[in-house]
Amino acid sequence: MPATVIVGAQWGDEGKGKIVDLLAQESDLVCRYNGGPNAGHTIVAGGETYKLRHMPSGILWGKECVIGAGCVVDPGVFIEELDDFERRGLSTKQVRLSGEAHVIMAWHLAIDQASERRLGKLQIGTTRRGIGPAYADKAYRLGIRLQDLFDPKILRQKIEVALTEKNAWLERLYGVEPIELEELAAQYERYARRLRPYLADTSLLVDQALRNGKRVLLEGAHGTLLDIDHGTYPFVTSSSTIAGGACTGIGIGPTRISAVVGVAKAYVTRVGEGPFPTEIEGPDQERVRELGGEFGTVTGRERRCGWLDLVALRYAVRLNGITSIALTKLDVLSSFDRLPICIAYELRDGTKTDEFPEHQSDFHAARPVYETLGGWGTELDGDDLPAAARRYVDFVEHQLDVEVSWVGTGADREQVLVRG
Ligand code: IMP
Repeated sequence: MPATVIVGAQWGDEGKGKIVDLLAQESDLVCRYNGGPNAGHTIVAGGETYKLRHMPSGILWGKECVIGAGCVVDPGVFIEELDDFERRGLSTKQVRLSGEAHVIMAWHLAIDQASERRLGKLQIGTTRRGIGPAYADKAYRLGIRLQDLFDPKILRQKIEVALTEKNAWLERLYGVEPIELEELAAQYERYARRLRPYLADTSLLVDQALRNGKRVLLEGAHGTLLDIDHGTYPFVTSSSTIAGGACTGIGIGPTRISAVVGVAKAYVTRVGEGPFPTEIEGPDQERVRELGGEFGTVTGRERRCGWLDLVALRYAVRLNGITSIALTKLDVLSSFDRLPICIAYELRDGTKTDEFPEHQSDFHAARPVYETLGGWGTELDGDDLPAAARRYVDFVEHQLDVEVSWVGTGADREQVLVRG
């Protein structure tokens, strides 16, 4: 498949990193098309744990990696990642940054943090990495792009214009310290010197790779239900997380995409606020969290845990045009006797639907209708799944009418069962 998109099919943290890592072996180019350091892929390889923030997972295989125009980049975090890889003896020379990607500036971080504090109970529960404010400035046409960092005069001018407004917000609205121009400009000039070798025309690079018959993996960050247009707004991130976002985020046409892999956990997690119909009540939630190590990579927050929701997953299949599914972390469910799977929602008027409600109030009030399958009561360690685990996977496949091509059976890089 020349261009394959990999998307999270739930609320993020589906274990995409591991599937990307697997498919990256057979790819020539691995690209991130959206988001910033609010994403966090954890990959366990050779006994070492890698927590990737900006970096596409292909870096671990020495593949050429692209961070596309649809991303927002925090230079400080990106440089830390570079340093970490170099310390561990991994080359970063093959990483390419789009000059069109927007920069997360110091004020974006300050505003994200202050605004969440100010919202109190009404907060989104963001990762506080400046994501929303950076994308807002992009849309407002006040943003600073990576290419701006390389012209000190333009950079200073842009920072000055932005600071006039941002400092007024920070001081008057949020009551926090203003940001000092000279210090900030000097810091971003230092960042520019370090970033310069990584900049490239990444849209052209991906196009040429595809023309030359190379295999390109387009890696989405977060998850479908966090998509700015189609997710559970306002409890979403600020970018296009769905497969369509790969085209705008990289700068290629939709006709170039040949397959879409949806990554879904065998259960569901969500961090931050917002409705979550299948959130588990009682001690099983804690049990899933502990067994699955469900704590945020970026924030360390406890993830909310729920049973598998096929209504939401059907929606993800539709929005992304998913052609195959990777069902991850099935091993986490191994010790449960009974496994509820949500097959429909009951709405406020008592009607049942297996399609994701279009109106947010219906989704807020939706009650899950479960079908309960039996557990398998044994660890997953071979090349074959126990019969009850197979039934669980077949059930998902049958309900969604999409093939489950990979099943995650453990944390390590090798613990993925390839089906069919
Ligand atoms: P932001 O992306 O930091 O603005 O956060 C907006 C919402 O998206 C919050 O509920 C975050 O917890 C959630 N979010 C952002 N990135 C991820 C992710 O990679 N995994 C899971 N949730 C995420």
